[in-house]
Parts: sequence; structure tokens; C-alpha cells
Amino acid sequence: MSKNPKETEEKEPKPTLKDLRTPKGVHDILPDDHEFYTYLKKVIRHRARQSGYRRITTPTFEFTDVFKRSIGDTSDIVSKEMYSFEDRKGRSLTLKPEGTAGVVRSYLQHNMQTWPQPVELYYIEPHFRYDRPQKGRYRQFWQFGFEVLGETDPAIDAQIIQLFKVILEDLGVADLFTLQINSIGCMNKNCRPHFIEDLRNYYMGKERSMCEECQTRLEKNPLRLLDCKEEDCIILAKLAPQMKDYLCEECKEFHEELLKLLEGLGIEYVENQKLVRGLDYYTKTVFEFWSASTGAQNAIGGGGRYDGLVEKMGGQPTPAIGFAAGMERIIDTMKEAGITVPTKDDIHVFVAQLGFTAKQKALKLMNELRNVGIKCVGALGKGAIKNQLRVADRFAVPYTVIMGITEVRDGTAIIRDMKRGSQKIVKYDKVLEELIEVLGEDQLDRYSPEEVLY
Ligand code: HAM
Repeated sequence: MSKNPKETEEKEPKPTLKDLRTPKGVHDILPDDHEFYTYLKKVIRHRARQSGYRRITTPTFEFTDVFKRSIGDTSDIVSKEMYSFEDRKGRSLTLKPEGTAGVVRSYLQHNMQTWPQPVELYYIEPHFRYDRPQKGRYRQFWQFGFEVLGETDPAIDAQIIQLFKVILEDLGVADLFTLQINSIGCMNKNCRPHFIEDLRNYYMGKERSMCEECQTRLEKNPLRLLDCKEEDCIILAKLAPQMKDYLCEECKEFHEELLKLLEGLGIEYVENQKLVRGLDYYTKTVFEFWSASTGAQNAIGGGGRYDGLVEKMGGQPTPAIGFAAGMERIIDTMKEAGITVPTKDDIHVFVAQLGFTAKQKALKLMNELRNVGIKCVGALGKGAIKNQLRVADRFAVPYTVIMGITEVRDGTAIIRDMKRGSQKIVKYDKVLEELIEVLGEDQLDRYSPEEVLY
């Protein structure tokens, strides 16, 4: 016998907020925060456009191999931070933990080698890492990133670093960060492989003074021994061999030229022999912007050259360089520095109405107001005018238009100046004109589809 649907419904326990809140490390971006994100995106898009970068969006998930092959099996990201799952056909997919791998996959998939080189792309996207959540470290976070594929010259490295710096300057936070820079050489056997061999030899026999993770790194990813944050490991790293003494002639010249170019651009840097980055695809240049107060813990962003990656992912040898920055970290820094951003969310006019005809007129009027760029909201429910005015106060509008039964009968509307508390009766068909006059043409939020840039 079928059950009474009401009875079945009642058996389902009502979830509590605790059951349904966001998982650890992910968060809502509420309207006040969106003002910062919108501003940041505007600055990024503006600077990207000026420099000829075009926007790309790669999918939120890709085959796991895209990330394994590029970022490297032994990296923290691949070995413990990926959100991987199987689809219904048992294929392994992963939520993107970073942007470069997807861009390189896309470069190959869409034959971008046939486009005029270099191909310059940028993205503004959410990324996902099973990181230990704390301030500035989340499981879903936003990055913007820039990638240049198909050209090698230290001038490209200098230019992309400059672009990062200019964006930080636009946001008013450039002075709060220092540029850390290093070269980790290339795969030429006299360059990085030689360094790694000597690095291993140096650490061999010192395992007892190393943290557990570094003991694994010694075997799997010795370069990362240098940037361990554990106290004992920092001490050991101080006397470790330095990459600069192992760079092959080409890498050395490349790096020296880059430093000269940065100096020419007036960009200050700190040469940091311990900077190796956490992703395996880098060659030659690596860099990060560190908080001048908290150091390595909270890099605002970083990047470097990845000349071997396109080939590693199945393409022709193609030089490339890029960087990505964490948007939450930038926004936190801006807030801590007391930086405010301009917002366009303020509302100009509230429309209050009473009675069905007034409501019809209000709907029409609001559309007309919006079409000329007057931002307006209205109470379209059945509340008393007094209550509607309270809502108007909450929106902090400078003007309210009131249409009650009398105004509808007389073909008028009341325009109330909310600050002064004064009001004026105007003919209904003059409301628009009057509001433009009191608000001022320059305050209008005009919208024309041709002017809207993505
Ligand atoms: P990354 O250093 O792994 O590099 O990430 C870049 C920035 O993303 C970091 O400096 C940080 O600001 C932010 N970030 C990373 N993880 C988190 C997290 N869990 N929570 C909040 N923010 C985070 C890359 O991703 C490379 N793809 C950069 C690159 C582009 N290299 C060449 N091209």
C-alpha cells in the first residue's frame, strides 16, 4: 500500500544550519567583498588589455593526468592536495589546483603554436587545493594569472614581473611586498642535475636533523629541501650548496641579463637562493612577491619560466613563462592597509507606492529610471507607505518617489529629499527630468551594450 506522502515528508528530519554550512576552507563571497573582487578584476583586465593579453578560461575540472604530468607527482599539490574523483566511467578527474597546466593543455589542444607567437593569455578563476585552512590559505581560492608561450628572452621575464608589480601598484599595495628572485637552472646535465646531485650528497647522513617531510624530499624532490620552513631544516639549508654556483653558461647569462633589465626598470629585488617554488615545471627564472612583514608564509603570488612543459605535455619544445596571484591574499592585504575601493552599488532612488494603479505606474517608472542610468529599487509588496520609507532609509537613497492614491488621481508623484526631509510634488511625466536634474548627469549609471566591455 502506498504511504501517505505527508507522513513520509514528516519523517525526514529537518537539517540544522550546522549540517549545511560551507565545508572547511571554502567561503561565500558576500556583496561587500565583491566590491573588492570587482575592482581587482577591473584592474587586471585593464592592465591585460593594455599589454595585449587575451582572456582564457579552462574548465574547472580536467583529467587528473593534466596536473600529474605538469605539476609533478612528488609536488605537495599532486601528492596530497588535489580534489580528485572518478566519473561514472571510472576516469580520474581533478578540480584544477592551479592554472598553468590547463593553459598548456589548451595551447596544444587548440594548435596555438600556429597563432602569432608569443601567445599571451590571462585568467581569473577559482582553484581548489586540499590545503590546511588558515588565514590566507583556503580550499577554494581565486587566482589571476598571466602566461606567455612561444618566446624566450629575459626581457619577457622582466616584462611579466613588471606587469605583476604594476597591478600591485594600481591596488596600492606594491610597497608592502618584496620581489624574491632566483634561477633554478635547466635540465642540462651540467646545470640543475649536477646541483641536485651535490645537494643530495650534502643532506645525506643528516637525516636525523631533518623533519620527516624533508627525509622524503631528499629521495623524491631534493630541491624542495631548500625552502622547508622547519627550524632545523632552515639551519641545514644555510650551508647547503647554492644553485648560482652550478648554473650553466646559458642560464647564468640569462639570469644576469634579467637582473640588469629589472634594474633598468627600477624594480627592486632580493636574490634568494632558497626560492625553488613548489611546482616541478620551472626552469631558469623563478620569483615570488612576499609580504614585507610576514615573509615567505604568505606569498601573494609567484611564477617563473617553464621552458620544458609544453614538450613534456606532448608538444614541440616551446619556451614559456607566467605567474599567478592569490586574490584573497591581495584583498586581505588591501583591507589591512585600510584601502577602500570605489563602488557603484549605491542606489539613487527608492520608489514607494500604494494601490494597484500606483504599483503599475511604479513598475513603468522604475524601468524608465533604470534606462537613463538612475539606479532604483522599490517596495512592490503591499506595505504601508510609512514602512516603505523605512526600507528606503535602509538603502540610504538620496531621493524617494512616492505615489499614493491622491498622486495617481492627480497624475503626480512626490519626490522626497531624504537628507533634508523636504518634498516636492511634480507631474508624473516630469519625474524623470526632475531626478536627472537633482542627481546630476555625471552621477548616472548609463548602460549601453556597445560600451560594455567583458
Ligand atoms: P602557486 O605559487 O602555487 O603558483 O600559487 C600562486 C598564488 O596563489 C600563491 O602565491 C597564493 O597567493 C595563491 N594560493 C595558492 N594556494 C592558495 C590557497 N590554498 N589559498 C589561498 N591562496 C592560495 C601557481 O599556481 C602557478 N600556476 C603560478 C604560475 C603561473 N607559474 C607559471 N605560471
